[in-house]
Amino acid sequence: MNPNRTVGILGGGQLARMLAMAAADLGFNTHIYCPDRDCPAAQVANKVVFGNYADDKNLADFAKNIDVLTYEFENIETKALDELEKIVVIRPSIKSLKISQDRFTEKSYLNSIDIKTTQFYKIDEVSDIGKLLIKVKKPLLLKTRRLGYDGKGQVLIKTSNDIKKHFQGNKPSSLIAEEVINFDRELSVIIVRDQEGNIKTFEPGENVHENGILKTTTLPSLIDNKLKNNAKQIAKKIVDNLNYIGVMGVEFFLKEHELFVNEIAPRVHNSGHWTMDGSYSSQFQQHIRAIMDLPLISTERHSDIVMYNLIGKLTNDLVSSELAKVYIYGKKDSRPGRKMGHVNLIKKKGS
Ligand SMILES: Nc1ncnc2c1ncn2[C@@H]1O[C@H](COP(=O)(O)OP(=O)(O)O)[C@@H](O)[C@H]1O
Ligand SMILES: [Mg+2]
Repeated sequence: MNPNRTVGILGGGQLARMLAMAAADLGFNTHIYCPDRDCPAAQVANKVVFGNYADDKNLADFAKNIDVLTYEFENIETKALDELEKIVVIRPSIKSLKISQDRFTEKSYLNSIDIKTTQFYKIDEVSDIGKLLIKVKKPLLLKTRRLGYDGKGQVLIKTSNDIKKHFQGNKPSSLIAEEVINFDRELSVIIVRDQEGNIKTFEPGENVHENGILKTTTLPSLIDNKLKNNAKQIAKKIVDNLNYIGVMGVEFFLKEHELFVNEIAPRVHNSGHWTMDGSYSSQFQQHIRAIMDLPLISTERHSDIVMYNLIGKLTNDLVSSELAKVYIYGKKDSRPGRKMGHVNLIKKKGS
């Protein structure tokens, strides 16, 4: 190990914060690049460079002082990264980022490698929505192709009146329309792959969302082992096909024993926060290991566990529970829908 190396992270939110802490555990330095002076990662990083993501000069200066560049969110202009790649190693690859930052590209890619997604359609004009509604005769979930997260940028369209209400008079940004799937469960797989192609997969967790925002992740999921293995195999196919390096989160819908990939995230993922306390390794440590060429370690789960997101506020009974492992992200302001922290609650043996 050469502990004096430095990880650079684009983005300074909670994911960057937890990555920086995992990097420190392994003896690495972390530099953060983000526009917000109060960002959660600033509390725990060696250095924070403040700048916006379009400032090529500032980004290049940042890249000169790090060994490997990674990112905590998908919505980064890949044009800027193409320049940075001349200066520094970027992991996961720009290609993986490009595919996953646009819902149309993402789902088209998944289908191209024979992975099922929900039925989706490209929407370029408002008039496309009405035509599609007549054709499919089913409610449609409209999503912005880019920049959406936590359910933002999504509207449910059931009638032509809904189209008028949400889209009349404004030119929508590029959209996709998805058929609504009446899923039985939502699951996710956190997977990690290193440069040599070694892969470790965490056990699939079961997710509950409220208003498009993840509320809880529960392990174990009650689904049978065959389905768990299927989900892992699908995730493996994706990271292998992309020659991926780092952690990826793969979200699934399960309907009548059939798995559909909802989306992929080329980064550590909220539904993997349980790994901090329920597994022999955390997703954060595995990501740092993968991008810094350290061996991947066991992803085995040792405890039954529930991860609760603290959304919009911190005053939650869970925070004062004796068994709760509490993680507060240090955000200055709370607002509805904002992720302020999370709590991992391990289930005591025999309870
Ligand atoms: N086609 C769909 N059918 C039913 N529910 C959906 C569909 N797409 C999204 N959802 C619900 O909304 C949540 C957020 O949507 P998602 O596409 O994952 O966007 P985000 O990038 O905001 O997480 C999903 O986890 C799921 O609960
Ligand atoms: Mg999602």
